[in-house]
Amino acid sequence: MLSAAPTNKASGTIDMLDLAADRTDRRIIQVSHSPDELLLTWDDGRFSRFHALWLRDNCPCPSCRHPQALERTYKFIDHPAAKIATASLGASGELSVEFASTEGRHASSFSTGWLHRHCYSEAARYERVKRPRLWDRAASCDLPVVDFADYMNTDHGLRAWLEALCSWGIVLMRNAPAEPGKLLEIGRRVGPIRATNFGEYYDVVSMPNPNASAYTAMELELHTDLANWRWPPDYQLLFCVRNDAVGGGSILADGFRVAEDLRRDDPESFDLLSRYPVEFRFHDESCDISASAPTIGLDGDGRLRSVRFNNWLRSTLDVPADVVAPLYRALGRFWERLRDPSYHLTIRLRAGEMLAYSNHRVLHGRESFDPSTGGRHLQGCYITHDDVMSRLRSMDRRS
Ligand SMILES: [Fe+2]
Repeated sequence: MLSAAPTNKASGTIDMLDLAADRTDRRIIQVSHSPDELLLTWDDGRFSRFHALWLRDNCPCPSCRHPQALERTYKFIDHPAAKIATASLGASGELSVEFASTEGRHASSFSTGWLHRHCYSEAARYERVKRPRLWDRAASCDLPVVDFADYMNTDHGLRAWLEALCSWGIVLMRNAPAEPGKLLEIGRRVGPIRATNFGEYYDVVSMPNPNASAYTAMELELHTDLANWRWPPDYQLLFCVRNDAVGGGSILADGFRVAEDLRRDDPESFDLLSRYPVEFRFHDESCDISASAPTIGLDGDGRLRSVRFNNWLRSTLDVPADVVAPLYRALGRFWERLRDPSYHLTIRLRAGEMLAYSNHRVLHGRESFDPSTGGRHLQGCYITHDDVMSRLRSMDRRS
């Protein structure tokens, strides 16, 4: 049965039932196909190859995709394999494809911008990879800084903050009112606050009976937070309400920089840290939360995905006997590097300043401080990567 995809009357292009803005200056200049594949030639000389089954699966017509929910309703498993019968360009450059199968025929149309955005050639996929901007002490003078009012009131301020977080893994905010709870307002501009066993947010002050090292005045070595959770929070916001005690500077290091250097200089340790899990555990009177994960997390292509390191939450190693000694050695090598000041960004937060950083990449710590010399009151909370990316994608639709 033939069914035409709806056209977006305003732009004259195909409505892909996809809210992302599919703008492109590129044009398709040639279309060729076999029953199983379609080959597009773009005006910059590039090619896109699409499989018939992929195109059929992504048909945006209202019988294949719900026009209000914008979700897929087509179930490829319930249909015989479709072959490409015809393929041609329409008047506004859109691609029209007619599929044929034992069920009959089906017409689909695809917008140029959508096809360009979803091209899965090797070159296109390589270009789509977001590469972190690695940093060390030398690069830390370029630390991205965003003004509170810009962030709260403008798209460009919010975007600058979100993009810095994604690229650098860290961003400093200045000039916020130094009020308790202000960090929640800042976090909620991105999305819901991620609560943990410490609540929706926590105060970092020295306490008489601390249940965590953060609540003392002692030095804290570099670490990632909540390593004992199966999925630790993605981003930490650390807001300074007051800081006039002697000491207490914040120390940060780009775990991806350290890990990449380890991969280059000591591949054996890198391999062990990416293959074998380390156990972590937090327990107090109300909870007992435990998880294990490799120190260095990699994606399927070997790119860095996460760093997890926290010595006071580290529990008992549970690995094959012949791995125990090599893994301790590899952990020590990584830890030694973390202590190397050439990786350290040291910053003494002032009242009304806030650091945000990736808890899967940037390790944080602090110098000890002397609570008898003044007050040090920081507040912390967490937000999620999905909300960060959602805000960026939503802004991309409008700009
Ligand atoms: Fe921490």
